[in-house]
Amino acid sequence: MELVFCTNNQHKIQEVSEIMGPDFLFLKLKDVHFFDEIPEPFDTLEANSAIKANTVYFFCNKNCFAEDTGLFIEGLNGEPGVFSARYAGEPVDSMKNIEKVLRKMYGLSNRRAYFKTVITLVLPQGEWQFEGVCHGQISTEIAGCDGFGYDPIFIPDGYDKTFANMLPDTKNSISHRKKAFDKFADFLLKFNS
Ligand code: IMP
Repeated sequence: MELVFCTNNQHKIQEVSEIMGPDFLFLKLKDVHFFDEIPEPFDTLEANSAIKANTVYFFCNKNCFAEDTGLFIEGLNGEPGVFSARYAGEPVDSMKNIEKVLRKMYGLSNRRAYFKTVITLVLPQGEWQFEGVCHGQISTEIAGCDGFGYDPIFIPDGYDKTFANMLPDTKNSISHRKKAFDKFADFLLKFNS
């Protein structure tokens, strides 16, 4: 089945390629000549993930999937949440986002947080969503240089280092994205059989 991955984020493309393995081939936005910014106007991951996949689906009339991810921090009442990408404003800057989180959390003892990913798949037959959650906590300092986004400050449960201090294989075996894409892969296998 031909599927378009509706993202311009090279880190997501890399992680999803590793999670799904070499048999899963997808088209990129440039392959379908989609060069616009994809809108993310809503205040839920579900709605943003859906509009991303539907925007490209109606543009190229091909099977599409998109994902939206956010970091939800208990001690910050769920911030940055759905606004994770632009938490410190425009232009998107991951280090500024991290610095804002650490500044707002200074002195906070509750450091519980989770990443959530929502994938939307749009086919001519309908639309489906798949989610994955990874629980952990926010470190007090930046650590590690692998990964992307908030990885240098997120320590998943059961580990004593941040995502950015892990081998990509380790992150990709436990992450929110892995859990969501496992469900997505199961669905595609059954759908195509
Ligand atoms: P979006 O899903 O492209 O809107 O990404 C939301 C924000 O969360 C961006 O700032 C990303 O860098 C960040 N983000 C998404 N996935 C991850 C992840 O797996 N680790 C760390 N940060 C992430």
